[in-house]
Amino acid sequence: MQTNKKVQVGIVGGTGYTGVELLRNLASHPSVEVTMITSRSENGVAVADMYPNLRGIYDLQFSVPNIEQLKTCDVVFFATPHGVAMSMAKALIEHGVKVIDLAADFRIENLALWEKWYGMTHTGADLMTDVVYGLPEYYRSRIKEAKIIANPGCYPTSILLGILPLLKTGLVETTSIIADGKSGVSGAGKGANVAMLGAEMSESFKAYGVNGHRHQPEMVEKMNEVTGTSVDLTFVPHLIPMVRGMESTIYATLTQDTSQEAIQALYEETYASEPFVDVMPAGSLPETRMVKGSNMCRMAIYRPAGGGRIVITSVIDNLVKGAAGQAIQNMNILFGLDERLGLNQVALLP
Ligand SMILES: NC(=O)c1ccc[n+]([C@@H]2O[C@H](COP(=O)([O-])OP(=O)(O)OC[C@H]3O[C@@H](n4cnc5c(N)ncnc54)[C@H](OP(=O)(O)O)[C@@H]3O)[C@@H](O)[C@H]2O)c1
Repeated sequence: MQTNKKVQVGIVGGTGYTGVELLRNLASHPSVEVTMITSRSENGVAVADMYPNLRGIYDLQFSVPNIEQLKTCDVVFFATPHGVAMSMAKALIEHGVKVIDLAADFRIENLALWEKWYGMTHTGADLMTDVVYGLPEYYRSRIKEAKIIANPGCYPTSILLGILPLLKTGLVETTSIIADGKSGVSGAGKGANVAMLGAEMSESFKAYGVNGHRHQPEMVEKMNEVTGTSVDLTFVPHLIPMVRGMESTIYATLTQDTSQEAIQALYEETYASEPFVDVMPAGSLPETRMVKGSNMCRMAIYRPAGGGRIVITSVIDNLVKGAAGQAIQNMNILFGLDERLGLNQVALLP
């Protein structure tokens, strides 16, 4: 769709952190116009009153979701808790509106598994044939044709980008992948939560969801798809006392004696033409501040002490490549736009 008409954008759930991050990134997008942003609790409030960083940029007020108005958009982003997008997506796609869900409604194809992890009935089974998992580096050609994009979770984005080159080539065992993820507190959203209070989480560091986290089945399903086998993934998320950023360290056992140089070359080749994946030079160590506020995933690959394991360290900004930025990247692909539009922000450093 390469015309002069701007893509008309609606956002359902505009008051959360991913909603404001969509607005921040879309502010520099030359080919879109945000026409509607919803919040039931902030109906009538000006966006800039809630988010002063957007003063002078958007002349928009939050309004209650209205399906008839949303149908006038070209694309609707759902920056809502799970369960919301699947209740409205059918009416939108029937009207030719593309849907990009930042939540989990469409991320897992096995709906029985989805229901087990999300504890609710999935009401969108008939929509699943219209869904594509929105990890552009691996699903780009299918994203172009999709009606609904399941934007990946933040941990899955950092971990799948890190491990898939090795899994695709069979260079590592599928029975013992370990991924150790650490997220800033904005990953939990803006809702009041005692565990996220400054006095509770600052100057402290902990694992959570060790017995099982919803992103685990999402990742395993995609890993199984790539390998054609049943991957055993141990995933342990951690909460770190910072606002944004995510680092994942991934450990995998080599199936054959492959040099670190060969693996470095594999990664560089895999991501050579990807605008938002940076394979850093051998010996580098990615830091979350190297991607803060940007849509970039930076990673480095090691074979420590020449042993039998490969270690990948992968960083993203959970709100950008882990959510809103990737959603905009998917929108750009859907509408035949340059994938980098609206996503040229350089990371904030220091
Ligand atoms: N934070 C992250 O790093 C991150 C990363 C990847 C994905 N995600 C996912 O992105 C989604 C949004 O997360 P978030 O952190 O931005 O914020 P959030 O705190 O989950 O934001 C919720 C937003 O959705 C609206 N909402 C809630 N229930 C609704 C309903 N039934 N119908 C319509 N709107 C509803 C809320 O506004 P009203 O209640 O006023 O209508 C609010 O604007 C979540 O599914 C989350 O898992 C988050």
